[in-house]
This record gives sequence, structure tokens and C-alpha cells, in this order.
Amino acid sequence: MSAVLKSAPVLAPMRDADLAEVMAIEDAIYSHPWTRGNFADSLVAGYECRTWRMDGELLGYFVLMVAAGEAHLLNLSVAPAHQRRGHGATLLREASAIARSRGARGIFLEVRPSNAGAQALYTRFGFRKIAVRRGYYPAHSGREDALVLTLALQ
Ligand SMILES: CC(C)(COP(=O)(O)OP(=O)(O)OC[C@H]1O[C@@H](n2cnc3c(N)ncnc32)[C@H](O)[C@@H]1OP(=O)(O)O)[C@@H](O)C(=O)NCCC(=O)NCCS
Repeated sequence: MSAVLKSAPVLAPMRDADLAEVMAIEDAIYSHPWTRGNFADSLVAGYECRTWRMDGELLGYFVLMVAAGEAHLLNLSVAPAHQRRGHGATLLREASAIARSRGARGIFLEVRPSNAGAQALYTRFGFRKIAVRRGYYPAHSGREDALVLTLALQ
């Protein structure tokens, strides 16, 4: 009997060369995805952009902005085939560690009220709702509010 050995996923800085694969996931999971330009701008701006790959396959990614003692999680995504296997929680831990190491006292993010899955992840991680941004997101008809969630980093 032979054991099936799987590599551990690897976190790495996102590069321009990753963007075609990033966009394939982005387009698959969001009703209003980021554009390739949004990711390219984030790379140029020096945001903390990371990919999460296993055996070369892109499983997920995040984009984190750290400034003035606060971190803002701008994007956190896991490919459809790899959701509900703990990758989102791991990426959240990695993003929090980067934020902490860069001196952030807290991390905040926006999430759609309709996105119950992401809210469940964030709440389980310890995030709490602090505000509502009215009409923050584009939606199929008009706009959708954003819930603003925050987590204190010790
Ligand atoms: C939200 C997202 C990043 C979660 O990633 P994931 O790898 O599937 O999440 P995990 O497997 O780490 O989930 C950890 C816990 O979060 C909660 N959770 C995650 N997704 C959930 C869902 N769809 N429904 C209910 N609870 C969910 C559960 O408590 C889960 O633990 P469990 O699987 O043991 O029940 C992923 O579903 C995704 O990319 N969604 C589309 C993009 C998106 O909405 N991004 C966030 C924008 S703010």
C-alpha cells in the first residue's frame, strides 16, 4: 500500500505573473470581482499581497494594507474547490501575523451583509461588527451596505 503524500500549502508574495490565476478565482467567486488593475495597483502600492499555493495550484490569496498602526484586509479569497477546508482561517491567521509584525494594533475589513459564510469565518476568528457603511458595494440592483468588522491585535 502506498501513502499519498501531499505537500503543505505555501504562502508567497503575489507577483504580476500570478494575476491570470488570481483573476480566474476572483471571477469565479464574486458577483462584482476586483479587476486585474485593482491587484496590479495593490502590488505597486506595496500592499501585503500573498498567494497560497499547494503543489503549484493557487488555492487562495489575500491583500492587506497596513498604515498608521491599523491594518485593512482588502481581499481574502479561496478557490471554490478548496473552500471549507480551513484555508480561509489559515490565511486570516497569516494576514493577522503580518499586520501585527508591522505594528498594527487592529485589523478591520468590510463584508457584505449577504455574505453569511465570510461573516461566519470572521466572527469565529473573533471579529466584531463596529459599523455599517451605507451603499458601499455595487450590487445587481443598486448598492449593498457593508458591515465593518474589527479585531484587536495583541
Ligand atoms: C469566505 C472564504 C474566504 C472562507 O474560506 P474557507 O477556506 O472556505 O473557510 P474555512 O474553511 O477556513 O472556514 C473556517 C470556518 O469559517 C466558517 N465558514 C466558512 N465558510 C462558511 C460558509 N460558506 N458557511 C458557513 N460557515 C462558513 C465555518 O465556521 C468554518 O469552519 P467549519 O468548516 O469547520 O464549519 C471563502 O468561502 C471565499 O473565498 N468566499 C468567496 C469570497 C469571499 O466571500 N471572500 C470574503 C469577502 S469579505
